[in-house]
Amino acid sequence: MTSEPAPTATSRGPTGRGPTGPAPASPGPTNSAPANSASATPPPAAPSAAGVESRPNVARMYDYYLGGCHNFAVDRAAARQVLEIFPDTGVAAQTNRAFLRRAVRYAAERGVRQFLDIGAGLPTQGNVHEVVQAVAPDSRVVYVDYDEVAVAYARRLLGDAARTVVVEGDLRRPDELLAHPDVTASIDFTRPVAVLLVAVLHFVPDAEDPYAAVARLRDATAPGSQLLLSHLTLDGAPPVPAQQGRAVYQQSTAPLVPRTRADILRFFDGYELVEPGLSWLADWRPDGEPRAGVSHGFGGVGLRR
Ligand SMILES: C[S@@+](CC[C@H](N)C(=O)[O-])C[C@H]1O[C@@H](n2cnc3c(N)ncnc32)[C@H](O)[C@@H]1O
Repeated sequence: MTSEPAPTATSRGPTGRGPTGPAPASPGPTNSAPANSASATPPPAAPSAAGVESRPNVARMYDYYLGGCHNFAVDRAAARQVLEIFPDTGVAAQTNRAFLRRAVRYAAERGVRQFLDIGAGLPTQGNVHEVVQAVAPDSRVVYVDYDEVAVAYARRLLGDAARTVVVEGDLRRPDELLAHPDVTASIDFTRPVAVLLVAVLHFVPDAEDPYAAVARLRDATAPGSQLLLSHLTLDGAPPVPAQQGRAVYQQSTAPLVPRTRADILRFFDGYELVEPGLSWLADWRPDGEPRAGVSHGFGGVGLRR
């Protein structure tokens, strides 16, 4: 890493540009069926609800924060607990999505045509393939998630999207992921690729060695490749609510592992951070998008030389 300017904002919360997105205080119905079951898009045939409703699921809680409808009662109950503790979580989730859109547009505008989105979550508005293919229609996107429901929904909802594939894979097993036939069929690792790790690494504890996984992905990519990363922090958050928020996630499918800015920066080892460096999410190359308002995390883009 050769470029690391200081962040331009030093506090959590509004940065002066927002908040402008609606916090989804009560999106979605309250029954135990998938919240979209009466909508135009039918839920995927599998997996069955019975098998996935027992614990709050981090992908579907995030969908709820975003105002989405692909979540179950157990997810909504946990998400509402988090919203009680941190009422701006919905706006912060929108801020993260806005960062993702700006970062992938940045990569596409600099000529990257292959995108490996790990921890992609459920499809929502402004999906990666939509953003990058608006810049370059020939761009390829591989969505990866380890959650079978997120993968099933993504396959159903993105089924006919051109040059887009959905893969079930685990960031913690990068060798398997890199060797997956659908990944190798779509991504030419001798050419630049943008690896997205957006709001996913804070679900991987240090004991599972996320730094080694990120380094393995880096080493598999060619010069000119980019790392697009965002990560939750509790830097600046009061300790009691922070502990309460983590306790909610202890009951979910993945523990929450917020990291300090210094520890998030370590994920960029071997990359040159592009301006403005690792920043509060709303401060990373803001383009006036209305929802870039409240940051609960840091984000940045690294360039592999
Ligand atoms: C908060 S969502 C982020 C979705 C999207 N990247 C975004 O920022 O809008 C986190 C996603 O990471 C996925 N995830 C968590 N741990 C993972 C792992 N070890 N491998 C692959 N996906 C993982 C979850 O299933 C979930 O869909």
